[in-house]
Amino acid sequence: MTSRRQFLRRAGLASAALALPVPASGRPRPTMPAARHDAAAVVARDETYWEQVAAQYDVTDEVTNLEGGYWGMMATPVLEAFHRNTIRVNRESSYYARTRFNREARDITERVAAALGISSGEIAFSRNATEALQALISQYNRLEPGETVMYADLDYPAMQQAMDELAVRKGAEVARLVIPEPAETVEQIVEAYREALNAHPRTRFLLLTHANNKTGLIHPVREITALARSRGIDVVVDAAHSWGHIPLDIDGFGADYVGLNLHKWIGAPIGVGAMVIREAGLSGIDRAHGDPGSLDSIYSRLHTGTMNFATILTVPDALDFQESIGWENKYARIRYLRDLWVQEVRDVEGVDVLTPENDELIGAITSFRLNGGTSGDANRALVRQLVEDFGIFTVARTGVAAGDCVRVTPALYNLPPDLAKLVDALKQLVA
Ligand SMILES: Cc1ncc(COP(=O)(O)O)c(C=O)c1O
Repeated sequence: MTSRRQFLRRAGLASAALALPVPASGRPRPTMPAARHDAAAVVARDETYWEQVAAQYDVTDEVTNLEGGYWGMMATPVLEAFHRNTIRVNRESSYYARTRFNREARDITERVAAALGISSGEIAFSRNATEALQALISQYNRLEPGETVMYADLDYPAMQQAMDELAVRKGAEVARLVIPEPAETVEQIVEAYREALNAHPRTRFLLLTHANNKTGLIHPVREITALARSRGIDVVVDAAHSWGHIPLDIDGFGADYVGLNLHKWIGAPIGVGAMVIREAGLSGIDRAHGDPGSLDSIYSRLHTGTMNFATILTVPDALDFQESIGWENKYARIRYLRDLWVQEVRDVEGVDVLTPENDELIGAITSFRLNGGTSGDANRALVRQLVEDFGIFTVARTGVAAGDCVRVTPALYNLPPDLAKLVDALKQLVA
């Protein structure tokens, strides 16, 4: 049988992805299919175009990977840029790091800040979202003894733990809320927060996840932040899964503190995220570990030590790649891939899909349970069965108040047959 990669190779698409013309400006540009200018919903269904995009990824044939939520593999042009940058940094070594990196990193920071619609003084690169968010939470200094920190069951475990630790250190309380399941509307989720805040009137600091990693639900950050801020509550937004996955408007969040990733949906090399502190929020975050840097600078709030220079240098290549597809086209495509499997199984007896059909509340990630299985064992066994019996790679998720589940995350290297394969497997499993 012809594998997907063999098919693409034969079509001459994979080899096209390796051609890297070097423009006069020096930095090679990704070779991409011609830009599409139709409406995103039309582009999303143009399989000829997306086969060309998929051919830019060198994906293993060992499994059908529907676990794009862990991290976003680099497209071949980005990977090649990363190789070049690694070779360059290694060759120029400390001379590069001491004389050139800061200037180049400043330019890259400016590009990233402009793309995010914030000022370059409000963002600093971290090695991942966890590092940025843990620093924001643990260095938050406005919490007083007897006040409350709040988070939800769907927030990320490492950030929940950081909130717990902050509360213990400050003599504060922890309030945990449960996001309704199923969550069907923005109002329903906002109402859950309103009730929780009413029940905990001394709440001072709220952790809010934009796109959660357990069910894939998109949380209405703007509305919840507005509610929180009207009560004098500071909000830290976990946007680890946002940029490049769903529309991201940091200014529109209305929150002072945000952590995000570039190695998930932006497809930069592993090892790059960012901390965002809006100007008004800087005084609420202590400097890191005795850092003597300026109180007016975000850099005194994040002390990473040596980072992978080549990773940072490759961020513009990853952005070029995403921009050449077009943000709206990408959002529409990965959402289309999600719909392909969800709409086929939503009404199948025994399949419980955990995200609604509400455009405001979904992106590419969606989780499910089979036959009411909510235990960790049941869902881990299901993941094993999917990979061993059907060659489909997914991941089990825990921590949802209503029970564990299996997460499915298609990415740009997936094509409709991958989702059809999942649909087929789920129908067989519940039959
Ligand atoms: C919602 C959320 N927050 C934070 C993280 C942590 O990201 P990283 O491991 O890149 O720091 C993840 C990772 O999947 C996530 O899904």
